[in-house]
Amino acid sequence: MVLFSITCIFSLLLLPSLLHASPVLRGFSSSGLSLPSLDSKSWFCHLVHMTLAQKLCLQEGSTAISVNTPLGAAQGVVDVSGVNRFAAKYASAERWSPSAVVTAWALPNGSTNVSALPLMCPQPYVDNSMFTEDCLSMILYVPTTLHAGSSVPTLMWIHGGSFMVGSATNPGLDGSALALATDSIVAVIQYRLGALGFVAPNNQTNLGLEDAVNALEFLTTVLPSFGGDPSKITVAGQSSGANLIRALLAVPSAQSLFQSAILQSDPMDYGFLSSSDQVQLQEYFVSNLGCTATDSTCLNALTADNIVNGAGLWQFNSSVYVVPAATQSEPMRVVNDGTFITSTLDSTSPFPRVSKPVLLSNVLDEGGYTIYGSFPDPIPEAEYVAIVNASFGETRYETLMGSQSYAVGTTQNGDYRPQLQVLATDSVWRCATWTFARNWVSNGGTAYVGLYTVGASYPGNSAVSFCTESGVVCHQDDIEIVFGTAPNPDTAQSALITEMQSRYKSFLYNGNPNPDDSSYAEWQAAGTSDVNAIMLGSTGDAPIGACTPSFWGQSVAYDYQVFDI
Ligand SMILES: *[C@@H]1O[C@H](CO)[C@@H](O)[C@H](O)[C@H]1NC(C)=O
Ligand SMILES: *[C@@H]1O[C@H](CO)[C@@H](O)[C@H](O)[C@H]1NC(C)=O
Ligand SMILES: *[C@@H]1O[C@H](CO)[C@@H](O)[C@H](O)[C@H]1NC(C)=O
Ligand SMILES: *[C@@H]1O[C@H](CO)[C@@H](O)[C@H](O)[C@H]1NC(C)=O
Ligand SMILES: *[C@@H]1O[C@H](CO)[C@@H](O)[C@H](O)[C@H]1NC(C)=O
Repeated sequence: MVLFSITCIFSLLLLPSLLHASPVLRGFSSSGLSLPSLDSKSWFCHLVHMTLAQKLCLQEGSTAISVNTPLGAAQGVVDVSGVNRFAAKYASAERWSPSAVVTAWALPNGSTNVSALPLMCPQPYVDNSMFTEDCLSMILYVPTTLHAGSSVPTLMWIHGGSFMVGSATNPGLDGSALALATDSIVAVIQYRLGALGFVAPNNQTNLGLEDAVNALEFLTTVLPSFGGDPSKITVAGQSSGANLIRALLAVPSAQSLFQSAILQSDPMDYGFLSSSDQVQLQEYFVSNLGCTATDSTCLNALTADNIVNGAGLWQFNSSVYVVPAATQSEPMRVVNDGTFITSTLDSTSPFPRVSKPVLLSNVLDEGGYTIYGSFPDPIPEAEYVAIVNASFGETRYETLMGSQSYAVGTTQNGDYRPQLQVLATDSVWRCATWTFARNWVSNGGTAYVGLYTVGASYPGNSAVSFCTESGVVCHQDDIEIVFGTAPNPDTAQSALITEMQSRYKSFLYNGNPNPDDSSYAEWQAAGTSDVNAIMLGSTGDAPIGACTPSFWGQSVAYDYQVFDI
């Protein structure tokens, strides 16, 4: 069947580099930040609850700190100079049930160590001592200058990893530098992944998305105690994290919980799943689980390890052969269930009226890791043609071959990988994002669109040498720019870190990425036709290429149109 074949080449577009990254703490050490070590006195102090004893501890210069919230005393540590760090559990959940916001402040997973970072949500490819199902935690980074009377914005970050892997402790996600540079609170959250978050024997859907909504609810309650204004929350995320934000934008009941959104490298070619596809995927999951859907004794006896490395991994590998719309990169994802999510936010159903400002970015070579990782050797013309035909199906293939951007006969040294890379970037990410921007603007919102031409190679991306070439910016290479965690940044990286953090600050405060009195180029909002995409790291507008209103989405269908989801 032709439609399957989109996946045969453009597979694993999002996941691989995370798999190569060593999971915990690497970002903290490689960024030169170090965790404060607790001496025995502070170990004692954080065990004591908010009493005179603890105040005494604090007065004696301990690194532990405490903030009173409506949910009780929040315990944290003074992190890298000028930032307090609080690891907190924001919600609890029974397996395959909706989560509920905590009613009392607690450290993650029953921990008593204020310095400890949360364990990850269960996921394959890591040792099971690194995860727990009690993983609905976040890390708050709060500038020490803030106090309960301040009212600064908050950026809530949602990590990527194909809804399969990733955590708040991934490389580069220490929010300290970003919080300081933006005069804001940064909250980096975790949410349930894989089958535990998105495919359930009891037919629950969108559990991981509901987790993110609960993280927003939690923030709304506690932010004033830290000096944050709960009406000024911006959600930001990268890759599947941005995909989750696209879903948040489609949840009517969540709209009052955040004011604006930042979507970095969302694979917008992938729509939300339809309920009918999800039913098939859930049945397939149960058939591989070794328990019937209603046998709670059997289901409860499964360990998280069994699930994520057994039926969960199988589901990840095989869903696309059961339901082509599942895609190979994000087979377990959010579902347009018609009640929680009520629109597709694309051309396949009426686009709702919107009003929030959104900031949408891509990197120059989103498809670089996959294409050059899959094809270490040059691709001759015949192979290129076969790949495009197999990946897009004959109808789309014909149109693509008629386009200047992707036609044969134009290429360099007989190697069609550069062209294939552009095709992957355009179809899965860049043009799909520009189409979304036009839709957003046409329906009342404001959108700012950018393209990173400078990045910081994300840990793991160096496994593909193309991604290390000068001028190449691969998927995820924007993360350490935004967070200011790039190790040993060169001049161009430092300049872009400063610029992006300044633009983010302005966006968090005013919904506009043009700081007052700055010398940065004006970032014009997108129009309904010209999205005015600027280059981030160089000057001028991003080349339009095939991302015109009449090509992708009109002449050539996106996957969400082909699969009619
Ligand atoms: C608390 O966690 C920190 C960071 O992981 C670790 O270095 C420290 O040893 C832990 N303290 C105790 C008492 O376990
Ligand atoms: C955290 O989670 C793990 C795995 O679920 C569990 O073994 C451990 O006892 C939990 N508690 C603490 C304090 O680590
Ligand atoms: C899940 O949905 C399927 C299809 O609608 C149905 O056959 C099945 O009984 C449901 N399972 C549970 C546990 O509700
Ligand atoms: C899933 O894919 C991974 C990576 O290709 C492979 O290592 C693993 O054996 C596969 N697992 C299953 C259950 O197919
Ligand atoms: C495209 O693939 C189909 C089979 O999926 C095949 O029948 C057709 O000949 C191919 N066309 C070209 C130009 O390769």
